[in-house]
Amino acid sequence: MKRVLIVGSGIAGISCAIECAGKGMDVTLVSPFPSERAQSVLAAGGINAVLYDGDDSVKCHMEDTLKGGCNIAGTEAVRGLCTDAPEIIRWLEKKGTVFTTNPDGKISRRAFGGQSHNRTCYCGSATGKQIMTALVMEARRFEGQGKIKRILWMDFYKALIKDGKCYGAIFYDESKADLVMIPADYLVIATGGQNALFGKTTGSTLCDGYAQGKLFMQGVELKNLEFIQYHPTTLETAQKKLLVSEAVRGEGGRLYYVENGKRVYFMEDLYGERGNLMPRDIVSKTMAATGRDIFLDISFLGKEEILKRIPEVYDLCQKYKGIDISKESIPVTPSVHFFMGGIAVKNNHETKVENLYAIGECASIYHGANRLGGNSLLAAIHGARVAAESIESKGNPSDLENKTESITPDFSDELKEERIALANRRSFESVFPVMYLRDMLAENLREDLGIVRNEEKLKKGLDDVDYYLSIADKIHYDRSEMAYLGFSLTGILTLARATLVCAGFREESRGAHIRSDYPDSLDQWKAATIISYDNGEYRTRLDVEKEYES
Ligand code: FUM
Repeated sequence: MKRVLIVGSGIAGISCAIECAGKGMDVTLVSPFPSERAQSVLAAGGINAVLYDGDDSVKCHMEDTLKGGCNIAGTEAVRGLCTDAPEIIRWLEKKGTVFTTNPDGKISRRAFGGQSHNRTCYCGSATGKQIMTALVMEARRFEGQGKIKRILWMDFYKALIKDGKCYGAIFYDESKADLVMIPADYLVIATGGQNALFGKTTGSTLCDGYAQGKLFMQGVELKNLEFIQYHPTTLETAQKKLLVSEAVRGEGGRLYYVENGKRVYFMEDLYGERGNLMPRDIVSKTMAATGRDIFLDISFLGKEEILKRIPEVYDLCQKYKGIDISKESIPVTPSVHFFMGGIAVKNNHETKVENLYAIGECASIYHGANRLGGNSLLAAIHGARVAAESIESKGNPSDLENKTESITPDFSDELKEERIALANRRSFESVFPVMYLRDMLAENLREDLGIVRNEEKLKKGLDDVDYYLSIADKIHYDRSEMAYLGFSLTGILTLARATLVCAGFREESRGAHIRSDYPDSLDQWKAATIISYDNGEYRTRLDVEKEYES
């Protein structure tokens, strides 16, 4: 039986586990926390799919996605995504997801940013939570049958890679404070984005990008790191930037600022009737350019409709800020929300390392320079299905092993060396405030990789990160800091450095990457950025050959 090891149990990871188990594979699903705490449960607005007859079509969904991503995503990958979307909605319904419906029983769809038709299916304004609840139940069913083994409180440490092929992974087991090796025929990384790099974001700081950084250091290429989505409407709190879902604008919400005592609906003035629902890169950029305090008004809908259509947004504003959105406007600012960049994968979600896959937000494939709202849950599930299909279609190394001498290289020396390296870094006396360093990094990156960048800021960012990298290896960690703060530091900083390098490399403005010193979009940059790592060297190139689009 094929052994599939999946790292990360958010919607991408758990969907892949369900699909692989359903295809008869032996699945191990490892994560440092339960699915219910994954960032996926924060996904509010919905999931895009062309359903029923009408004006909309898969072709329109494709065109919107490619155009929204500023034409650098692969056409075939996007075709697969949009074609699979209706089937994914049926798949989710079968697994128990309850979508909001119209009185005629059909699934309701709302308007979302950058889309020519209303095609965002939703469950109130808690779509991710509803989907996750259904998928967890389904995974438990397979668990009960012994087809999925779920392991909690283990952190990805590194992949087992030899001669361009992957054989499983090493994890940090929090309960034993030790490293453990899990061999597998196929490794699927589904660890989410890299919010922790930026500290206060709409996402979970448990998503720290370590896996991307570590794999990069192990020779796996990354793609499009400079494209970081700032969601236009977030609400400031002491700990977090709370997402005020695009659903509010989908339901008619209007952005404005006040000038001379009068409201200026600047998005509508600039872009017409659907101005508030322009793609996120354009809305955030325009908001920043006003240099003013921006508000979002949905009060005209009335409390009854608000509670019917966007109840979670009503609760969130009331609970955290004491704002009754049926009476008052919401003060909003753009904040880091999503990472279009990540692990470079081919159309089947495999990296250039054989048998190593990446899915969900940690992978870069569908969204180009800017993701459309409602396409992330879709991409997470579609990617999981594509990876599972690809693995199903490949050979069964475990069986092969039974017939011949063991073909799996011996990684025991590597494990021994890693244990020694980790032990050397433990100290119960001298604890450098690692958390403090991560806070400083986040503050720097929010500034240097903000909505608008320039060479000076990016160079400063590189100097800061180089300094942090120079001290990272000298830091001793407290045992309690080991998992989240300790060993992951170098990987996280390496990812931060790679992101700054990519942002410096792209000398144009495109989608979410806006350079004040290179304000135009230029044809010669109309391709994905690839970055690789070789003995401390960071090498960038444009994927003009479309190496990853096969
Ligand atoms: O605004 C939102 O509800 C976010 C949705 C998304 O990022 O897809």
